[in-house]
Order: sequence, then structure tokens, then C-alpha cells
Amino acid sequence: MTRGRFISFEGGEGAGKSTQARRLAERLIARDHKVNLTREPGGTAGAESLRGLLVEGGTERWSPLSEALLMYAARRDHIERLIRPGLARGEWIVCDRFADSSRAYQGAGGGVDPDFISALEKWVLEDTRPDLTLIFDLPAEIGLERAGLRDAAAQGRFEAKGLKFHQTLRTEFLAIAKAHPERCVVIDASPGPDTVEDQIWAAVSARLDP
Ligand code: TMP
Repeated sequence: MTRGRFISFEGGEGAGKSTQARRLAERLIARDHKVNLTREPGGTAGAESLRGLLVEGGTERWSPLSEALLMYAARRDHIERLIRPGLARGEWIVCDRFADSSRAYQGAGGGVDPDFISALEKWVLEDTRPDLTLIFDLPAEIGLERAGLRDAAAQGRFEAKGLKFHQTLRTEFLAIAKAHPERCVVIDASPGPDTVEDQIWAAVSARLDP
């Protein structure tokens, strides 16, 4: 059996990643692929428990370093129990956020040393890396406004961190895309959802022959 494919969706808040991950999963299923639509932090029972600890509470609940370790504990469980077995069975794993989010949020945004993030990537991910990463790009002001409109009553810990933090994230995600052109495609997230979906399908078709 041939190995499946691993696609991650990355970017700031309010960029429409979750909607688009769902749409891509539906398109792949329509082509008779076995698809596992999942997310981080989360995707397995243990990692979903850690997600609760990570996304709820005040902005200062965790230091960025503790946060990176918790994210990576959740990620390792997700890799061991869902991503690797799924890929081995030939599934397409469509993942709403993955390791680039830790590099952006905890690294660039939180000040965790990029060498430490690289060490976590090396030892925790090993060879489990996305075949394709779609980086959703949007001005931070627009993303935060969209995220606020979506969920004004329950702003998450990361959405509450302020505009400058989110501008830093955008810069970092674009730097990641530039550093890894073989893996990353930047998606302009400002147009409507149908146009964004077209961009994604074009990228998936060009890179992974779905
Ligand atoms: P989301 O499901 O709305 O994207 O929420 C997850 C939050 O967790 C989001 O604000 C980004 C944050 N996050 C990190 O800070 N580091 C990570 O490694 C991941 C996967 C998510």
C-alpha cells in the first residue's frame, strides 16, 4: 500500500482555515480518497484534553516555553496514534495547524529560542512532516476582526494577545513559507471562501496529484 498524504493548514486567527480544511476534505473524499480531517492542538483523546488546558484561561496561564512543551506533548500523541498509522494505511491527513504554529506562536510570538523549537521538531516529529503546508495570509487586523465577529463572547487565550503579537505571527508564517518553498504555498485569505477554495485546489493538484 502506498503511503498517504499529509497536508497542514497554517496561519493567524480568523483566516478561514477550518472551513477550508473541511472543504478540501470533502473534495478529496469525492475523489475516493480516505481522508482524516483533524486539528492541533488535538486530534486524539489525550491531545484534546491538553487543548482544553492550552486554549482556555488567561493569557498568562502558561509561559511560552511551557506552552511549547504542552503543544509538543499533544503533537507527539497525535503523531503516534493518528497521523503515522493513518499515513501507513494510505489516508490523506488534513490537519488544521501543525508544527509551524509552534514556531510562530511560541517561537516568534512568545520568544522561545528558535533552536529549541528546531530541537523539538527533530526529536518529536522525526520524519513525520507535511507533504504540503498551506499558509493562510491575511492582514492581522482583518483576521482578528473576523475572529472576533465569529466568537465575540469567548475569545481564546491566543486571540486575546493583541495586534502586535498577531502581526509578528504573520511575518513569521511568511518567513517559514519563504524558507521552505518545496513544502509551503501561501494562500491569499482575503477573498471570499470560493476563491480561497480554488487557490487551495490548484495548490493540491499541482503538488500532490489528488
Ligand atoms: P484554533 O483551533 O482556533 O486555531 O486554536 C488553536 C490556538 O492554539 C490558536 O490560537 C493557535 C494556538 N496554537 C499555538 O499557539 N501553537 C501551536 O503549536 C498550535 C498547534 C496552536
